[in-house]
Amino acid sequence: MSLTEKPEETPERLAFYKKIDRLAYTPLWAVFADIITPQPKSDCVPNLWKFDQAREWLLEAGQLITAKEAERRVLILENPGMRGQSKITTSLYAGLQLVLPGEVAPAHRHSQSALRFVVDGSGAHTSVNGERTNMEPGDFVITPPWAWHDHGNHSDQPMIWMDGLDIPMVSFYDASFAEGLATDEQPISRQSGDSFARYGANMLPVDYQQRELASPIFNYPYSRSREALDIMKREQDWDPCHGLKMRYVNPVDGQFAMPTISAFLQLLPNNFNSIPYRSTDATVFVATEGKGRSIVDGETFEWEPRDIFVVPSWAWVNHESDSEAVLFSFSDRTAQLKLGFWREQRGQT
Ligand SMILES: [Fe+2]
Repeated sequence: MSLTEKPEETPERLAFYKKIDRLAYTPLWAVFADIITPQPKSDCVPNLWKFDQAREWLLEAGQLITAKEAERRVLILENPGMRGQSKITTSLYAGLQLVLPGEVAPAHRHSQSALRFVVDGSGAHTSVNGERTNMEPGDFVITPPWAWHDHGNHSDQPMIWMDGLDIPMVSFYDASFAEGLATDEQPISRQSGDSFARYGANMLPVDYQQRELASPIFNYPYSRSREALDIMKREQDWDPCHGLKMRYVNPVDGQFAMPTISAFLQLLPNNFNSIPYRSTDATVFVATEGKGRSIVDGETFEWEPRDIFVVPSWAWVNHESDSEAVLFSFSDRTAQLKLGFWREQRGQT
């Protein structure tokens, strides 16, 4: 028998399978090729969501339900290959959340880790563990597992951000817990910017002891990340697959900012045409600046700012830019690295 072929189903074998099936037995040789595949085999398919359409429907949802009644007013970006499962990849969830002026998305906490990536509007805030941060376009904000968090919008414009969570991963382990707070907004006990000052200035408090896997910084401002890319690009040191790609880190241990989710920011120079790349972490991209396209296993997805697209595990992708462009992305890479099975392959020019 080869790894990809199934043994013949003779009448005697089928009768045997039927007999043992009654008491919950299954012959491995009948399913081996389905469950241990020579290469990743996924229901996740590549797809792109245009932001203009999303924004129109989000604002329509804003007329239908309040943020408070909805708990979170979010349109889930569901992978077309996995409809009805609230997944954008096999292991990750993504959605677009709208908070209108004056609204509050009430305080709650859960086992799942969350990231926000601000796509439209400015001046709404998220509070995490007693500290409030204002959110600006391109900011990368994290909510560690079991951290209280609520959102509010004191600005005069609608605010939309992408949520990325490890919901399918936590569900896979049957480890989901969640609870609400008695009040809509959690009490604020620390000044805004406190965690960034303590942990985001290339220093740590001298006796700091790491207690959590997630980064103690919970807002990585776009202005800082973008400035870094801008300075680095002067060296013209472009990776042929990625342009100039950085990962968001936990400054305490150098790991990714979140225990289950990796996040990245990359700059593509004008007229970049990358060589193909693939990896086992299916990746969600948000086009942040510039225009271009990504070709995923031969299918072309044209993007402009705020569009979101997904590249499945082990699918070849290459990026082309028509101008200088910035892509934010996230995946489960850090989880796969810790578990020992992450793989990547760089194509040939
Ligand atoms: Fe939440």
